Amino acid sequence: MSRRKILSVVGARPNFMKVAPLHRALEEREGVDSQIVHTGQHYDEEMSDVFFRQLGLPEPDVYLGVGSGTHAEQTARVMTAFEEVVFEEEPDVVVVVGDVNSTVACSLVADKCQVPVAHVEAGLRSGDRTMPEETNRIVTDRLSEYLFATEPSGVENLRAEGIADEKIHFVGNVMIDSLVQFRKKAQQRSILEDLGLSGADYALMTMHRPSNVDQKEPLAEVVQMTRRLAEELDVVFPAHPRTQNRLKELGLREQIEAPGAHLLDPLGYLDFLCLMEEAAVVVTDSGGIQEETTFLQVPCLTIRENTERPVTITQGTNELVTLDPKVVVERAEDRLGQVRATNGRPDKWDGHAAERIAAILLGEG
Ligand code: UD1
Repeated sequence: MSRRKILSVVGARPNFMKVAPLHRALEEREGVDSQIVHTGQHYDEEMSDVFFRQLGLPEPDVYLGVGSGTHAEQTARVMTAFEEVVFEEEPDVVVVVGDVNSTVACSLVADKCQVPVAHVEAGLRSGDRTMPEETNRIVTDRLSEYLFATEPSGVENLRAEGIADEKIHFVGNVMIDSLVQFRKKAQQRSILEDLGLSGADYALMTMHRPSNVDQKEPLAEVVQMTRRLAEELDVVFPAHPRTQNRLKELGLREQIEAPGAHLLDPLGYLDFLCLMEEAAVVVTDSGGIQEETTFLQVPCLTIRENTERPVTITQGTNELVTLDPKVVVERAEDRLGQVRATNGRPDKWDGHAAERIAAILLGEG
């Protein structure tokens, strides 16, 4: 039998920790040629390269170097470049993860070239079509042959949208596979000492969603939220380039400087994991961090009106909070007093999701 060629696509920061365990699980099997295509949607050392090194990912087999741009520009550039790769490589399956522009772009190309698409993290829905990621999720799922869901809501959403049952596989969460694998290594990092925070109560904050940072009004609230929180406890805020750029452009960079507020450049995977595990509370608008804190049982306040990951609320440590500095500080204080959650962990978030996916893709068992 000829070797099965599987191309896995990564583009942006949250993709790397999802593909790493999958690539490993595929490589461990006979008769598989697992290749990684990096679109270059994220390209900086601290948004991309450090993740490859720390997650033990090999250099990508193909690097498309598309860079930043508007949604249409970025998506179109990925499509044009990825189509050549598909023509050249003739893969048996294209694996895409998550919900970024690279995910939808490569799904469209593979589908038109009649290569089956496997979507890892399928079925998540915020119900909020103002989020660019929601469009990416809906389109990608519609085009996929294999839909790998992380939580029961994903399965339900796909069924409700009329996707055939045999295409839907509830496999768990590959991002948690990486967390399980690298947790010990992360615990050994010196970032807490480096920041002078060993043994201290601190809030870990990330904020990069366009609705929270692109306009002056919400971004000013983010600044106020940071300052008010920093009056209560240290705040560690590794800021995404989008957020750093907007802070500068909108003249808010100086205002965020306050005693106890540590505004940092984006951190690598291990340092961030280390900080997350030891945090008293996490304040974020990220998707993945809602899940990682649920697994680590660290209180998480998500500054959004909705979440596509409801299991983090029903069975986890997550809570949706409006972008109002007063409310966030109140909720943070409230959560600080709590013992860590004891709800257990969502089903199949056990470090073995990638193996389940590999087995399904290769038709084992
Ligand atoms: C993307 C994803 C989002 C994900 C986030 C994680 C889409 C639609 N959005 O948003 O779902 O949560 O990644 O980080 O795909 N930039 C750099 N260096 C880089 C990458 C980006 O400086 O390596 C800056 C550029 O100014 C760029 C901006 O960040 O214009 C935004 O990057 P982009 O990839 O367009 O979207 P994200 O906001 O990162």
